[in-house]
Amino acid sequence: MYRTHNNGELRLSHVNQEVTLVGWVSKKRNLGSLVFIDLRDRYGYTQVLLEEDKFPNAKEIKSEYIIQVKGIVTKKDVPNLKLETGEIEVVANDLKIVNTSELPPFIIADETDALEDTRLKYRYLDLRRPVMQNYLKTRAKIVRACHEFLDSNDFIEIETPILTLSTPEGARDYLVPSRTRKGSFYALPQSPQLFKQMLMVSGFERYYQVARCFRDEDLRADRQPDFTQLDIETSFLSQDEILTLTEQLIAKIMKDVKGIDIELPFRRFKYDYCIDTYGSDKPDTRFGLELNDVKDVLNTINFEGFKLAKVIKAIVIPNHASVTTRKVIDSINLHAKKFGLGGLTVLKFVNGQLEGSFLKFFEESHKDALVNALALKEDDLIIIGAGNRMKVCSCLGALRTSYAKEMNLIKPNTFDFLWVVDFPLFDYNEETKEISPSHHPFTQPKEEDICKLKDHPEQVYAAAYDIIVNGYEAGGGSLRIYDQKLQKQIFELLGFTEEDIQRKFGFFVNSLKYGTPPHGGLAFGLDRWAMILGGTDNIRDVIAFPKNLSAVCPMSNAPLQVDEAQLEDLGILVKEEYLEK
Ligand code: AMO
Repeated sequence: MYRTHNNGELRLSHVNQEVTLVGWVSKKRNLGSLVFIDLRDRYGYTQVLLEEDKFPNAKEIKSEYIIQVKGIVTKKDVPNLKLETGEIEVVANDLKIVNTSELPPFIIADETDALEDTRLKYRYLDLRRPVMQNYLKTRAKIVRACHEFLDSNDFIEIETPILTLSTPEGARDYLVPSRTRKGSFYALPQSPQLFKQMLMVSGFERYYQVARCFRDEDLRADRQPDFTQLDIETSFLSQDEILTLTEQLIAKIMKDVKGIDIELPFRRFKYDYCIDTYGSDKPDTRFGLELNDVKDVLNTINFEGFKLAKVIKAIVIPNHASVTTRKVIDSINLHAKKFGLGGLTVLKFVNGQLEGSFLKFFEESHKDALVNALALKEDDLIIIGAGNRMKVCSCLGALRTSYAKEMNLIKPNTFDFLWVVDFPLFDYNEETKEISPSHHPFTQPKEEDICKLKDHPEQVYAAAYDIIVNGYEAGGGSLRIYDQKLQKQIFELLGFTEEDIQRKFGFFVNSLKYGTPPHGGLAFGLDRWAMILGGTDNIRDVIAFPKNLSAVCPMSNAPLQVDEAQLEDLGILVKEEYLEK
């Protein structure tokens, strides 16, 4: 028997018992002839006391060795309040070194100053840190709650293929060359979208899957090239019923994982309201600093850019006029350029008046109207954007979030849930006048907008919804088109030829001809849920073996070049310039 107890278990009630513990040596301290060891396992730490005279091999013990200790649980004179087991220690009467360890490249403890690439290279050691274990435990609890909820609500878990054809989620595909059909490629699924819809055609009515998804896109702190979705599809449910069911699932997750009772139903914000008010379709409403519409107030000033602007929006940052230097204003303008705007107008409200070089374009009446419209207070900073709606709103939205962080306006450990509904069905390129699906081409337009499809597709909204938690898009879905005529019309609008359709997803479109039930669903970004509930803003923290921002795994060094023989088998020739010398 390796152990009688784990290292997080022993308390005063165990005093005088003989126990056997096993674990990794987290810390070793010598005090004269006494050796103190913090022994660590998955469950916690226990202090072990060894007398060096009794155990000559104690000298050999180093960090991360695995030792087994038999001894007596003893009350400590001075408890260590940092440890759950800190009221006792185990005085050893037997010691065995179970395994040795090389010196790890960083200290295995919650706090680390190791670079992330080093942590990823030695991920198996990084995962020994209790903080990392907690992230993965939280993740596992979320998955468990999902299984329990969906199972008890009649959902059937079904796996779908990994080697498949391109699925239309808008990212670049990862391709896998075929040996048996040389020159042809499988695509890894960007999501199980097509398969889950076909499972509805098959009549399963309620499907779910914890599904691996693969997307070759630019990586960010909340994106990975391979990630996991909790994927759900249902038949014969209305959008409202789907949202309600999802809210109940979220309530179960929050209760099981965080012990929190959340209030249902969640707020439902229309997409347009979110863009206009928060400058984002994933608004964080844990703080204010909303965007204000000041077009009516300012479109008559003597400045061309404002007269022609589609929108004029302002955010007000309290207590920031006095700390906003020329340099800060320059950086605000640099920020604006990243969003494709020429700049932003920065004004201050000090000594009861507006200040700023831009005021030369204002009449007195504009000043009064702006002060009233924004209910300005002493020391307010006013940042105004004018121009294209999406550019202005997203630029100010990003400033809103960064000021909230700087000003510590976001309360820790709060969870802000909301639905964003009524997304536009298409992304509309104002310059080329072209449309593309804003989600995927199988999304159901809102019933009342179908009549606008022909002449004003840019005004058509979708029966699509995203679940937003603390400003993250934690999931999204839609009702799907089940009417063949409507699907054909959408394909035509998107400029897909019959040949395109048959080649790309003919199998899928054909399946819909056989009595497709009205259906819809959604997918949670499981990694994002684990991030949000685990309390980290780095998606890699909640994935056991993630890729870095260059989509490389620093541990295995994947992706790698392969043998010529393997390429030969696949009929692939790598261009000379890409071959390793
Ligand atoms: P969507 O593309 O919105 O929808 O994806 C659903 C959710 O998956 C998460 N997500 C990601 N997480 C980590 N890394 C990524 N690269 C990444 N991309 C997406 C997000 C997102 O909300 N088939 C549809 C769902 C449906 O309509 O049922 C889909 O995949 O949290």
